[in-house]
Amino acid sequence: MIAPDVVLGRDVKIYEPELVNLYGCTIGDGTRVGAFVEIQKGAAIGARCKISSHTFICTGVTIEDEVFVGHGVMFINDLYPGAVNAAGELQGENDWQAAATRIGCRASLGSNATILGGITVGRGAMVGAGAVVTHDVPDYAIVAGVPARQAGDMRKRAGGERPRESS
Ligand SMILES: CC(C)(COP(=O)(O)OP(=O)(O)OC[C@H]1O[C@@H](n2cnc3c(N)ncnc32)[C@H](O)[C@@H]1OP(=O)(O)O)[C@@H](O)C(=O)NCCC(=O)NCCS
Repeated sequence: MIAPDVVLGRDVKIYEPELVNLYGCTIGDGTRVGAFVEIQKGAAIGARCKISSHTFICTGVTIEDEVFVGHGVMFINDLYPGAVNAAGELQGENDWQAAATRIGCRASLGSNATILGGITVGRGAMVGAGAVVTHDVPDYAIVAGVPARQAGDMRKRAGGERPRESS
């Protein structure tokens, strides 16, 4: 479902419109979105990004232009979640605050990565598959593991600072 309040740029490609859940978000020009992706209200996706299938992008997340998001990437916006508030009532919007996360231009997030709330991933950085990112990632850093640790620098790889094209 693509809710009527979703703001889509020009030439956005949503491969399976019946198999996504998009509401209250913005998606920039030319971005591609795979099946079984959920993007919540307030999330902002830049232009020419690729959002691969089964990824969850929550309120509080900003993704800049030309970012690659692999399959099944999980964003988190509540570090101490609860079903109910202190009074035992079902938790509502006023009972918690979404942590803000930003993914810099041309960064790539490997499949099954988890990005904790309040994180900044720098421009051109590469997050390895399955990483759990608990700290900010510097521009162009390669990080991997649980918790994610720096394992390299994209600028020292063949091809320079721009991550290579991905499938
Ligand atoms: C992290 C990554 C970028 C590789 O970085 P790299 O610097 O080229 O790493 P290498 O392949 O040379 O491996 C270096 C070490 O890191 C380990 N490693 C590689 N990827 C890893 C990962 N995702 N998590 C944990 N460790 C990883 C390797 O086992 C190796 O360890 P060793 O020296 O003990 O054997 C890559 O493995 C990766 O995860 N890319 C994301 C791919 C993806 O999810 N694509 C989505 C679309 S299909």
